[in-house]
Amino acid sequence: MKRSHHCNQLRKENAGSPAILIGWIDSLRDHGGVFFLDLRDREGKTQVVLDPENKELSELFPRLKPESVIEVSGEVRKREGSTINPSLDTGEIEVFASSIIVHNQSKTPPFPLDESADKVGEDLRLTYRYLDLRRPPNLQALKLRHEASMAVRTFFDEQGFLEIETPVLFKSTPEGAREFLAPSRLNPGKFYALPQSPQQYKQMLMVAGVEKYYQLARCFRDEDLRADRQPEFTQIDIEMSFIDREDMYALIEGLLKEVWSKTLAIEIETPFLRMPFEEAMNRFGSDKPDLRFGLEIQDFSEDFRDSDFKVFGGAVSAGGAVKAFNAKGLADLTQGELKHLEETAKSLGAKGLAFIKSEEGEWKSPILKFLSDEEKETLKNRLAVEDGDIVFFAAGPWESSCNILGRTRLEAATLLEKRGQVLRDPRDWKFLWVVDFPLMTHDEEEGRYVASHHPFTAPLEEDITLLETEPKKVRGQHYDIVLNGVELGGGSIRIHQPDLQKKVFEEILQIPPEVVESRFGYMLEAFTYGAPPHGGIALGLDRMVAILAGRESIRDVIAFPKTQKGQDLMTDSPGSASEKQLRDLSIKSLEEEA
Ligand code: AMO
Ligand code: AMP
Repeated sequence: MKRSHHCNQLRKENAGSPAILIGWIDSLRDHGGVFFLDLRDREGKTQVVLDPENKELSELFPRLKPESVIEVSGEVRKREGSTINPSLDTGEIEVFASSIIVHNQSKTPPFPLDESADKVGEDLRLTYRYLDLRRPPNLQALKLRHEASMAVRTFFDEQGFLEIETPVLFKSTPEGAREFLAPSRLNPGKFYALPQSPQQYKQMLMVAGVEKYYQLARCFRDEDLRADRQPEFTQIDIEMSFIDREDMYALIEGLLKEVWSKTLAIEIETPFLRMPFEEAMNRFGSDKPDLRFGLEIQDFSEDFRDSDFKVFGGAVSAGGAVKAFNAKGLADLTQGELKHLEETAKSLGAKGLAFIKSEEGEWKSPILKFLSDEEKETLKNRLAVEDGDIVFFAAGPWESSCNILGRTRLEAATLLEKRGQVLRDPRDWKFLWVVDFPLMTHDEEEGRYVASHHPFTAPLEEDITLLETEPKKVRGQHYDIVLNGVELGGGSIRIHQPDLQKKVFEEILQIPPEVVESRFGYMLEAFTYGAPPHGGIALGLDRMVAILAGRESIRDVIAFPKTQKGQDLMTDSPGSASEKQLRDLSIKSLEEEA
């Protein structure tokens, strides 16, 4: 069973030669007694025509089913005139079959494996993922993922990095997401936690003197799933000693340049733009701004400080902000679209989504009567309001007002695209470093500070003195790499001084000393044995490949992804455990067996 060629290889120069092809039947055609089939393998498709004189083949043909695996032997023949198929690489030839071996006859697939499969429910496609993957665009995505991974590995190898595997059976980490636990049979009542990332291990590798580490690391987070989140995913995980932020920016810019060049043959421009977190929030209402289009947000807090419109004035006197942006050309939005925008804003905590439309030389708005002429003039000038525009407002605490308009800005872009405008060309690569994040944010629910990134991030040198007095103002040496509104990755320069790390854990984050000791004691101790200054970053491989492939969801670039409910429908996982398994693990399930 050896093929002579793949199904993408034969050309008219091969005419007259013998060929053996193996693959899946893509389609079958009976042209008035002349039997054709398209054979497909991993690489492409070739048309096969059956020798009409061959009785055995003529009898076999009606029994062949699409998606069966067959082996075809025959001779390559040139196609002439209108029989040439210019849309196929092998369209100038066909294989004139003299024998066919059926290796495995296929049942009728539960859905057709052509473009129409895109309309089939995703659950059905995931149940038969091995069939869905046979579709060329889906196999192509896996191939692209492989190429990206190869480019990453070659790049780091050339830069002197060591690829080192870290344990998957770990223990609880403080990265914020819920964790998956694995009970330990040998240590009854104790659990491993699957790593949210190799963060602590990679820092220990720096203490161990590795200097340059990377890994394509599998990470696990028990989060609510979305298009860009899976419970298990892969990070390009990196850590280096004796570096500063500039070194990291240059390294990652070099890496991404290489990946884009190797996978898409596109030369992206470096260095990337940099933007402080505060500016990103103020202008785009997001810490991962999509810079492919404008519709920038502006601040009107000072203009409305003493406004008669209490919603705006009140927000400012309460220490908040009034923000607005002009959704240019969207005044014609429908009631339904407006309602959707309002509801989205409300889901983010907005009390309302005030707006002003400019139509036929007139401003229309439920809030118009509250605004002074001066206020209207300011809005008109600064937002360059013209006929056909609609301005949206958010008033309230600074961060939530930014977030609300940031989301509205994206929704507005979608609505403008529905009207035929191109705002977000998927081949327009707007890379951006977001920097100067606050080291801590105040968690209102828990009434304490939490690390914005994770507790190992070092504060900016010049802000260290503020740690005790105004922790909110301390900026971290944290950086995010953002592409077209997607957070590709994030990292930081780390704390490597045991005293400072202990202070952050206990005094700032208020983690009880005994918890610090049990979770991080080994780290604090390691830092007393000669810890090099170090820093790192992790990029989401799945997100990067999804963008390279022009796919909406990371599920499309993962061989066996999980559903929204975290299930693998093909293998029906997660599954239940037997009484005995649970007993061995000293576990009792609270769920009644269904
Ligand atoms: P962070 O938590 O920001 O940093 O994660 C880094 C990157 O991993 C990707 N990512 C995900 N991809 C798919 N599904 C998920 N559920 C998911 N969660 C995260 C994102 C994200 O930007 N240890 C630190 C890195 C460091 O400091 O070096 C970390 O994990 O692309
Ligand atoms: P009200 O006077 O509360 O009825 O609000 C008048 C208009 O302002 C309505 O269109 C509300 O949706 C909107 N609105 C109310 N609160 C806010 C807010 N915090 N930010 C932006 N718009 C708001």
